[in-house]
Amino acid sequence: MKIIRAKDYADMSRKAANIISAQVIMKPNCVLGLATGGTPVGAYAQLVDWYNKGDIDFSEVTTVNLDEYRGLPKEHPESYWSFMHKNLFDKVNIDPAKINLPDGTNPDAEDACAKYNQIIHAVGGIDLQLLGIGHDGHIGFNEPGEAFELETHCVDLTAETIEANKRFFDGNVNLVPKQAYTMGIKTIMQARKVLMVANGKGKAEIIKKAFFGPVTPEVPASILQMHPDFTLVGDEEALSLI
Ligand code: GLP
Repeated sequence: MKIIRAKDYADMSRKAANIISAQVIMKPNCVLGLATGGTPVGAYAQLVDWYNKGDIDFSEVTTVNLDEYRGLPKEHPESYWSFMHKNLFDKVNIDPAKINLPDGTNPDAEDACAKYNQIIHAVGGIDLQLLGIGHDGHIGFNEPGEAFELETHCVDLTAETIEANKRFFDGNVNLVPKQAYTMGIKTIMQARKVLMVANGKGKAEIIKKAFFGPVTPEVPASILQMHPDFTLVGDEEALSLI
């Protein structure tokens, strides 16, 4: 495990974007596993900036996103499909045919997850997986207590996650979807490189628990201690307890 200390959010975003762009430069047709949430927004903005300056080319890149809310139409402003298009895909030269997210509009969970697993296998697995971390240690939407060996599956979001994500739904927990399709820990662990971004005081406790505590399904991110190529880029506040 490699820990990179950043001064602040902007510095964290730049450092993470550097690692992502290095991956794309080294392997232009790489598979990027991408994440949503507030934390990676700055890294995506940095990548867009470098793209506009001609420093990075996404034309051969394939993307697979971690997760999607079950039951939200793609066009809903808070679907992860919309999030990714707004923050990255609409602003760079990525081929729309190479963009993949779980299909939250497919009500048949088994079918939606099986199809997503097939896609991940068909593209040859993930070269670099970007992750944020939830306050309860979730990665993607793998909530505490779930088996480490799962691939894409349907999850019930915990009350804590619904509470944390209500800020995106007019502050109303009733509007937050209660389920999601998420890549499993097994898929994340099979990624050749994993990069986590974390910022702010609110993440300090869980960062300490996940990376300096026992490896346990109760703290899903803790399994990353066992990954052969895992990098955590955090700002001073998020890393303040380690
Ligand atoms: C959601 C996403 C996760 C993300 C987490 C933390 O639950 N499914 O992938 O890591 O939020 O989000 P934030 O970065 O806004 O703290």
